[in-house]
Amino acid sequence: MNILLLGSGGREHAMACKIAASERCSRLFVAPGNAGTANLIKTKNINLDPLDFSGIHAFVLSHEIQMVVVGPEAPLVAGITDYFASHPALRNVMVIGPTQKGATLEGSKDFAKEFMSRHLIPTAAYQTFTLDTLKEGTQFLHSLKSPYVLKADGLAAGKGVLIIDNVKTAEKELSNMLKGKFGTASSKVVVEQFLQGVELSVFVLTDGKHYHILPTAKDYKRIGEGDTGLNTGGMGSISPVHFADKPFMQKVEERIVIPTIKGLRDEGINYKGFIFIGLMAVTNDQGELDPYVIEYNVRMGDPETESVFPRIKNDVVDLFEHVWRGNLQQTTLDIDPRAAACVMLVADGYPGNYEKGKEIHGIEQVSNSMVFHAGTKLGDKGQVLTNGGRVLCVTSLAESMPSALLHTYQELEKIKWEGLYFRHDIGQDLLRMMI
Ligand code: AMP
Ligand code: GLY
Repeated sequence: MNILLLGSGGREHAMACKIAASERCSRLFVAPGNAGTANLIKTKNINLDPLDFSGIHAFVLSHEIQMVVVGPEAPLVAGITDYFASHPALRNVMVIGPTQKGATLEGSKDFAKEFMSRHLIPTAAYQTFTLDTLKEGTQFLHSLKSPYVLKADGLAAGKGVLIIDNVKTAEKELSNMLKGKFGTASSKVVVEQFLQGVELSVFVLTDGKHYHILPTAKDYKRIGEGDTGLNTGGMGSISPVHFADKPFMQKVEERIVIPTIKGLRDEGINYKGFIFIGLMAVTNDQGELDPYVIEYNVRMGDPETESVFPRIKNDVVDLFEHVWRGNLQQTTLDIDPRAAACVMLVADGYPGNYEKGKEIHGIEQVSNSMVFHAGTKLGDKGQVLTNGGRVLCVTSLAESMPSALLHTYQELEKIKWEGLYFRHDIGQDLLRMMI
């Protein structure tokens, strides 16, 4: 079948590799894609914006697309799945991604928190405020202990969460947010209890009733080593997360995954796609780890996909078709037991100002590791150029996490461009915990 994948990051390149490798895939189109997807077998980039629904509509019909896989959240939050369902000519196209209502789990923090309260899913205690209830918000801040967590309700390009030590500053920021610091995204603000623990990401693929829990992963969000400096889209990831053992994952499944999927069904929300559950593992009084939901996303993570997807041995097109048909229980997940380590190579200056258009050398010399492109494009002569802050990532699979990390760090030395930066300490915190 012909398949259309929406998006242009490392996540989409990692997904495209698996989709193109499927015998079920005749041709793969990526809108808009990057230099990595441009050079992939069976695959062609097309110059279409994932939010241009009428452009996508015309392309799907003219190219006999049978499946659309949605990488990023924006088209889902904008309702692409509902758009396909409401047009008779598109109704039978298999769209992998939830409806707009389902995407509200990511699009509105307040909706997500209310959903978790309704379905008794463990999460930090919270209240939501608007400008009209600023006074109550200030009082609520005083009832909490430092640090204070303030979250813009809507999508704020990953910048809408503030964690503040001082209550006076928190009061001021609450007021700033409600007065438009993040535009309409912060016209409602969730104030919540700070959870002390270790974060990890759990991914679920669901047809709305049945589900598979994909391998766990951890991403590294800060630009600087030792988790310092500004937040980024993610500087690397590893999979699996060693402390997410059987007893912990059983809690995740029973307390979070099952009630989330049942909750969606009970509320009449049609959800076919990925659920990305950002978790905090918190040590309880007995010294055991308990999972709490920090956030839901309605897509795969980036750069988690670049360490999770290489471990999925199934034909992903087959899995996606079962998702669409609602019979995912007929499939069994086949996971590579090896560890995966992914390190992101970024442009100097990122996540602030950085230059684009630098020629990248040495990708072809990388052996025994995978290189996924994020912000790249092809130049006039077919050369690969930087075209974003996060540029490339290198992922290795190996029998143990230390050796996966070693391979990745050895191989990435072969890649060069002017102003290349990466973190040297991806995975080190977990290796220290394992000792
Ligand atoms: P979010 O956009 O909801 O993922 O939040 C961004 C980051 O803020 C998370 O990855 C956590 O590191 C941190 N965070 C969010 N909520 C909390 C919380 N309740 N307690 C501690 N850290 C939090
Ligand atoms: N890696 C975090 C995210 O994709 O949102």
